[in-house]
Amino acid sequence: MIKHITHIGESLNLNWRSSLEINTRIVIGRSALKKLPDLLSQIDAGDKILLVKPANVLVEETDRVIEALHDKSISVCLLEIQDGETCKSTDWLAKIWETLHDLEFSRQDTIVAIGGGAVTDIAGFAASTYLRGISLITIPTTLLAQVDAAIGGKTAINFQGGKNLIGNYYFAKIIIVDTDTLATLPSNQFISGLAEVIKYSFLEKTISSETDYLIGPKPLLSVLEDSIKNLSWDNDLLPGIIIACIKMKLAVVGKDPQELGLRRCLNLGHTLGHALESVTNFKLSHGEAVAIGMAFALHMAVARGQIGEADKHRALTLIEAVGLPTKMQEGISASMLVDILFRDKKREGEAIKMILPKNDLGLVEYKELIKREEIEQVLAQFCETHNLATN
Ligand SMILES: NC(=O)c1ccc[n+]([C@@H]2O[C@H](COP(=O)([O-])OP(=O)(O)OC[C@H]3O[C@@H](n4cnc5c(N)ncnc54)[C@H](O)[C@@H]3O)[C@@H](O)[C@H]2O)c1
Repeated sequence: MIKHITHIGESLNLNWRSSLEINTRIVIGRSALKKLPDLLSQIDAGDKILLVKPANVLVEETDRVIEALHDKSISVCLLEIQDGETCKSTDWLAKIWETLHDLEFSRQDTIVAIGGGAVTDIAGFAASTYLRGISLITIPTTLLAQVDAAIGGKTAINFQGGKNLIGNYYFAKIIIVDTDTLATLPSNQFISGLAEVIKYSFLEKTISSETDYLIGPKPLLSVLEDSIKNLSWDNDLLPGIIIACIKMKLAVVGKDPQELGLRRCLNLGHTLGHALESVTNFKLSHGEAVAIGMAFALHMAVARGQIGEADKHRALTLIEAVGLPTKMQEGISASMLVDILFRDKKREGEAIKMILPKNDLGLVEYKELIKREEIEQVLAQFCETHNLATN
């Protein structure tokens, strides 16, 4: 794997090439969007661009992108798709394909996706499938998409009620992470993204020990403990924190692109989190569900003697510092969750590889299969304790 990283002013320019010959250029920082015209000159972006964005949001950002492209003799067409998760459907996929067809797109032409993870997921899938693959540029505009969804090449749509059932791996040529775009993001969405950021801080030592990712002068966990309460979109520390998360994700994806081993560690808090989203009919946000999922992973790690109470307390304090929940919601029982967990595509017979902290905060165990009975038992205890604690 070859990595080339240079700092340019406030932005980080990261050229990442893995053993799979994936070459993604990532530009991060305040006002990074201004670099789009220069970046387009550096790749073969064709002479047509389809800009895909959610309807009724990101109006100024989109205007800025169109303005930036205006002088480039590139024909730009805007397709507004349904906002949020509902855009990840076969209907919207067909609408994007139809638009590309009507505009006579060639393989050299480019889709630019601007929005949260829902848009980068469906636009990425459309780009990967039309003519067996056209160029893709993503401009993630939620914190979650900037640290996670738009990084790492997974694309997907939902199908017949199943989340991300259809998708593939396809890498954007350019990813622009402009933290100024977060200015308009509702605070609950920002906090949801912070759950993913916290997750990376619980994985940092495992990732650095198994890849060529290097921990900075201060571990992400300590950086967050010192700053998380003041971490708004314009905090000077935010670009550096996002860069650490992106570098971790790329290091993991470079080592295990298809999630056969190490990449599973990125699911910390997500196995139970997805079950919680499902059982609450998405009343819990993704970040809230992952936060409770991480709290359960900490609880289970203590129950198995993998970490001590002090580390659990330290980790829960960080999660709670941003207002994320760490207790099970009332009315949700262990049996409801276990039923959903064992319908998950990631189960292996009557066991699941749950990601659990071990030894020290920052390290996780991601290989061990945990049997259904053990999950049922510890989950029942977790639901009981925490329901009582909230009464
Ligand atoms: N591909 C992957 O590896 C991966 C990883 C994690 C999550 N995902 C997917 O990402 C999606 C969740 O992403 P998300 O949390 O970004 O949700 P989202 O894309 O639904 O965005 C959340 C909301 O924020 C709005 N929004 C986006 N940017 C904004 C801004 N700057 N200002 C104001 N509003 C803005 C959106 O229009 C939407 O209403 C899910 O579909 C999930 O499956 C994919």
